[in-house]
Amino acid sequence: TGSVPVIVAIDGPAGSGKSSVSRAVARALGFAYLDTGASYRALSWHLMVRGIDASVAADVIAELPDFDFRIGTDPDDYYVRVGSADVTDAIREPRVTGVVSLVARIPEVRRWLNERFRAIMAATPFDGIVAEGRDITTVVAPDAPVRILLTASEDARMARRSKELTSESAAAVGEALRSRDKADSRVVDFMNAADGVTTVDSTDLDFDQTVSAVVDVVQTARTSH
Ligand code: DC
Repeated sequence: TGSVPVIVAIDGPAGSGKSSVSRAVARALGFAYLDTGASYRALSWHLMVRGIDASVAADVIAELPDFDFRIGTDPDDYYVRVGSADVTDAIREPRVTGVVSLVARIPEVRRWLNERFRAIMAATPFDGIVAEGRDITTVVAPDAPVRILLTASEDARMARRSKELTSESAAAVGEALRSRDKADSRVVDFMNAADGVTTVDSTDLDFDQTVSAVVDVVQTARTSH
C-alpha cells in the first residue's frame, strides 16, 4: 500500500487493436486501464453539442474550463461521461471521429488533458495502470517502466477496422483511417518507436496472442527492474 503504481504506456496508430488489447492486458495484470483517445473524443463531442467549431483553436481552448469529463479506469467498468451524459458509445460515431484530429492538434488542449492523465495515473487505487494513446510513451509518461509501441501493417489495421464498422465500405474505412493517421502523426509520432520503447507487431497475431505478447513485455520489464 502507498506504493507508486506501475505505468504501462502503450502507443500506436488507429486500428492497431490498441484499445481492446490494452484493456485485456490491464485485466490480466489486475491493473487499471486509461483510454486517453476517449478524452479527445469526449471533448470533440462536447464541442459538437455546444455548436463550437473545432477548427477554431481559441474557441476550443475557451471551453476547457467547462469540459467536465469522467472516464472509468476499471477494465471491467469502462465508461465515458461528459457532465451527466453517458457518451461511451456516442464518441465512437463517425461524426466525432471526423473532428477529433482537429481538437488533438491544439497544444493547449494536449497540455490540459495530459495533466488530467497524469493525475488519474498517480491516483489509481490499482497496483498499476495501462495507459494507451499516441504520445504516452513519449510525452505523457516517458519515464514509465514499461513502454510499448503496438503496430500492425496498414492492411491488417484496415481489415480489423472494417470488421468493427460493418455499415461502411472497406474503401471508405481505409481512406478515413489513413487520413486520420496522417493528420495525427503530424502532431505526435506514433509510427516509430522512441528510444527504449519495445515494438509489438500484431500483424500476424490474433487477439489473444497479441495480449500475451504485451503481457510478456510487461513481465520481462518488471523482473529486470
Ligand atoms: O485512439 P483513438 O482513435 O480513440 O483516438 C482518438 C483521437 O485522439 C485520434 O485521432 C488521435 C487523438 N489522440 C491523441 O492525439 N493523443 C492521444 N494520446 C490519444 C488520442
